[in-house]
Amino acid sequence: MTEAAQAGRPLRVAVAGTGSFGRNHLRVYSEMADQGVTLAAAIEPNAERAAEVAAKYGIPVFGSVDEALVADLKLDAASVAVPTVFHHAVASQLLSAGIDCLVEKPLAAKLVEADDLIAIAERHGRILQPGHLERFNPAVVTMEAAKKKPMFFEAHRLSIFTPRALDVDVVLDLMIHDLDVVLAFAASPVREVRAVGLPILSSKVDIANVRVEFESGCVANFTASRVSTERVRKLRYFEPRQYVSIDYARRDVLVIQVDEGFNLESAMAAGAAGGFQEGLPGLSFSKPAVAPGEPLRLELEAFVQAVRSRQQPRVTARQGREALALALEIQHQMEAHAERAGLSALTQ
Ligand SMILES: NC(=O)c1ccc[n+]([C@@H]2O[C@H](COP(=O)([O-])OP(=O)(O)OC[C@H]3O[C@@H](n4cnc5c(N)ncnc54)[C@H](O)[C@@H]3O)[C@@H](O)[C@H]2O)c1
Repeated sequence: MTEAAQAGRPLRVAVAGTGSFGRNHLRVYSEMADQGVTLAAAIEPNAERAAEVAAKYGIPVFGSVDEALVADLKLDAASVAVPTVFHHAVASQLLSAGIDCLVEKPLAAKLVEADDLIAIAERHGRILQPGHLERFNPAVVTMEAAKKKPMFFEAHRLSIFTPRALDVDVVLDLMIHDLDVVLAFAASPVREVRAVGLPILSSKVDIANVRVEFESGCVANFTASRVSTERVRKLRYFEPRQYVSIDYARRDVLVIQVDEGFNLESAMAAGAAGGFQEGLPGLSFSKPAVAPGEPLRLELEAFVQAVRSRQQPRVTARQGREALALALEIQHQMEAHAERAGLSALTQ
């Protein structure tokens, strides 16, 4: 048990990085007082943002981790929501100071950094959770519990361009969410990766299409774009006699089941030529009940629970490392493709 849990006092948490996503961590922690969570501080080098956060939440905001540690705030835990390239620098300091960390996705920018964070967390007996919040999306949780044997995935994550997260490409920025979910659902080692990616508006890859084949024979296609004209967050997969469509944003699920007695001829006679719609004999459409809940809130509640219980978080640092390893292999394959296609000058 942590000292806080033993003493029955509230957990004291901080947020490092209060930019566009760190602000959500601040909001959610500030709403968790009834769960014994005290938002105790923030770390933010941008003076304007720091002043805004200090005024809004009435907490001290420090310009660096060093300054926060010197202040001896008796912190139990922290969210690290700084740009990905700084995850390792910030989280390694916090973990070494005995503070449990939830590090936003991706766990780090490089594999050696992820390995180092895992080693530091182990050495100091700290909880280290990667911020793969889609695993806490109630629609994903519902289907993870119900999955049979998915053999084919199609993931689409498209965003309208905003000048944020440009320290990394679209694979580490957006696709990493789907890589993590599909790795958990497919539950098989990766056999082969093929990938194409192009920089469109930034100097890094902004749109990518990837095919991953797993040892089990399962295949997953991923498309991620941060230069789209629409926002899409969808995962669809086929398993024997079943098609599942998850809309992450709407947090809903559609399941179409092909019943044992399905007969193509009778389905055609009943009007399937006009499409496989609800009501056709042999096909069952259902919308499984999905519990309400904001994924970030559920993720931070699970983190707080891991901090209190000292149990491994539901999404582990090693799973964060696996998603990162796949993302980096995709980057490698995108570079190889660009080379083959004579596009390498475009992807510098
Ligand atoms: N889980 C999700 O769905 C999700 C969504 C968006 C972003 N993110 C992740 O959150 C992280 C931050 O992304 P963002 O879009 O909020 O970026 P951002 O640029 O809007 O914010 C980052 C903030 O960190 C601050 N910062 C920089 N160096 C720092 C340091 N050493 N210590 C403390 N603060 C520091 C910056 O001043 C800035 O305010 C990234 O890792 C990103 O991948 C996750």
